[in-house]
Amino acid sequence: MGLYERHVIPRLIDVACGGADIEAQRRKVVPRAAGRVLEVGMGPGLNLPFYDRSRVEFVWGLEPNGGMRSLAAARIEASGLEVRWLDLPGEEIPLDDDAVDTVVLTYTLCSIAGWEAALGQMRRVLKPGGRLLFSEHGEAPDQSVRTWQRRIDPVWTRLAGGCHITRRIPALIEQGGFVVEQLDEGYLPGPKIASYHSWGSALAG
Ligand SMILES: C[S@@+](CC[C@H](N)C(=O)[O-])C[C@H]1O[C@@H](n2cnc3c(N)ncnc32)[C@H](O)[C@@H]1O
Repeated sequence: MGLYERHVIPRLIDVACGGADIEAQRRKVVPRAAGRVLEVGMGPGLNLPFYDRSRVEFVWGLEPNGGMRSLAAARIEASGLEVRWLDLPGEEIPLDDDAVDTVVLTYTLCSIAGWEAALGQMRRVLKPGGRLLFSEHGEAPDQSVRTWQRRIDPVWTRLAGGCHITRRIPALIEQGGFVVEQLDEGYLPGPKIASYHSWGSALAG
């Protein structure tokens, strides 16, 4: 991992994903997490203030970027939650089958290179009846926006730590073997190429 990925990207993400509109999205999904939680791509820990501590036993924070894990330290301390780091990518989740009650996935599916393998791993570790909670941005429904998303994606992904703006999030989740049980979608304020959001929950199919 280069210096840009380890030192610059974590700070960019901390700012870019720390705004009020995204915070409002976090409030819609993260408090639903319960039991043994796996957060995939925990990043700088921006979800930590939104967990309901009375429902969460502990959180496995899976995050391959050491710079992100360092930035998260203060938020872990402030949250009072027990966070157990897993420093591998989502394609290689080092947990037993059925170990997890809730998987939390926010602004990460856009960045996972092997998204299908990673969703397969999330399904494997999720208990029967467990939930995947998600809030992600991705492909827009409007043709004109999609055209620009495809044009800009190759540059965007290089600057933004592997983030893609062309992924159809609910379709990917279903392709990964989940059944989407609740889904809301819409544009958040900001440039349309990066602000079409999908959020809700899914069950292992
Ligand atoms: C845009 S950040 C979002 C961080 C956090 N989930 C949030 O909501 O603020 C994307 C995160 O995905 C992580 N990531 C990238 N590739 C990954 C992979 N293969 N497996 C797990 N996480 C990955 C990055 O290190 C980064 O922390």
